[in-house]
Amino acid sequence: MTHRQHQEAADQTTPAQQGVQADARPNARKVFMRTYGCQMNVYDSERMNDVLGTEGFSATDSMEDADLVILNTCHIREKASEKVYSELGRIRKIKEERALAGKDMMVGVAGCVAQAEGDEISRRAPVVDLVFGPQSYHRLPELLAKASGGAKVVETEFDIDAKFEHLSERAARPVLKRPPAAFLTVQEGCDKFCTFCVVPYTRGAEVSRSVEQIVTEAKQMAASGVREITLLGQNVNAWHGLGANGETWGLGRLLRRLAEIDGLDRLRYTTSHPRDMADDLIEAHRDLAELMPYLHLPVQSGSDRILAAMNRKHTRDEYFRLVDRIREAAPDIALSCDFIVGFPGETDQDFQDTMDLIRRVEYGSAFSFKYSQRPGTPGATMSDQVPEDVKSARLLELQELIANQQTAFNASRQGMTCNVLIERKGRHAGQVVGKSPWLQPVAIDGSEDLIGTIQAVEITRIAANSLFGRLIAGHHDLIGSTADGHQGGGI
Ligand code: 5AD
Ligand code: SF4
Repeated sequence: MTHRQHQEAADQTTPAQQGVQADARPNARKVFMRTYGCQMNVYDSERMNDVLGTEGFSATDSMEDADLVILNTCHIREKASEKVYSELGRIRKIKEERALAGKDMMVGVAGCVAQAEGDEISRRAPVVDLVFGPQSYHRLPELLAKASGGAKVVETEFDIDAKFEHLSERAARPVLKRPPAAFLTVQEGCDKFCTFCVVPYTRGAEVSRSVEQIVTEAKQMAASGVREITLLGQNVNAWHGLGANGETWGLGRLLRRLAEIDGLDRLRYTTSHPRDMADDLIEAHRDLAELMPYLHLPVQSGSDRILAAMNRKHTRDEYFRLVDRIREAAPDIALSCDFIVGFPGETDQDFQDTMDLIRRVEYGSAFSFKYSQRPGTPGATMSDQVPEDVKSARLLELQELIANQQTAFNASRQGMTCNVLIERKGRHAGQVVGKSPWLQPVAIDGSEDLIGTIQAVEITRIAANSLFGRLIAGHHDLIGSTADGHQGGGI
């Protein structure tokens, strides 16, 4: 995995795995969806595809063919919204070309840029017919109808309960086949107000779905072929849901419940805040074979001064102690992290504290970013902004260290046998690709029939961003709680 790969699942088209089927109906209206940013956006795009599928849309990978183009945007760093505007410039040309051929094209901007910028988007890019925030996608049919009447539609209400309600209603109905590894949003929004971050403003306050809603959706997913679920939330380990008897559950208890669902062999969750790693959640890593030995636990900085300025509300020592407790519970866990370099006021010493933290923790992978000023956040108006060239130099140094740790971590898998959930065809004929328990892609020689199964694989070769392995003869689809046992033996 590259440093940025999993969080920056970014800039991908979301074709037809799900509700929307590619070219299933040749005369159907076609939708082209591009997803930027985090996995929550990937999940939202999939749910938008579900909604559009029931409206008779089929998916296309070619924007030129599309009757509807949706950009599902991310606002976390400034470049992301600039990318959206430049993409809209390109779309304008395609829309004009289609108009010459007598064909219509509707253009929608969804996600956090839509939420943050609202009607500014259609002012700046008149090609846009429809602007809607992350909490409105279930109302897409209604919004599309309005927009096709010629109105410019801007819908940025926060009505997260309605969205969750809708998700749960859908989950109760049968769905088309889902991929072997899929996302499930359990929580949205954030109350932490880190001083660099727009999420509390774009996604709003923290809201959790109920145990029942989540369990229903997870069962439905398992019945549709999903073997691995990643629970999603901007602050996922702050999730707390109401159980049937009025008790409040934490994420650890939820994971235990989900592990009982037949056919669901692997669980993951992301993204976590160090302050919300409850004992019960750490114990779930010790006790649950289904819970994969991988944890994304952003610290952002290794300097106490900067952590305080970021409003992270913990110290570096508290983070070290937390990591020790997690590793005690799950010794082979792969840790991943986010770092920001060049937060306002960051000195060379502060930066060296971050480098020291990385050396001490030893990560399997990490994402790292230059601080960018996000309008409306406290950080944007802090004095002592760090010059761009200093940020660039620090980022380079940090990424080199992380790259070395990632290489070392990957190399430590050489010769190991582990379980791999096979997810898709590989780049070469006769090759399939899956994920190791530590979220590394593993390429294997094998037939497509293996997709959706969990196989014992010996890791034979390590490349920069992925592993290569070979099937261990005689092992076929390892099912159940022993399949991914991560307390030594099984892996
Ligand atoms: N500048 C740089 N990086 C940021 N992130 C969030 N906001 C900013 C910002 N203003 C990073 C954090 C977060 C990840 C998703 O994006 O590291 O954990
Ligand atoms: Fe943003 Fe901080 Fe909330 Fe994460 S915990 S979403 S970084 S405010």
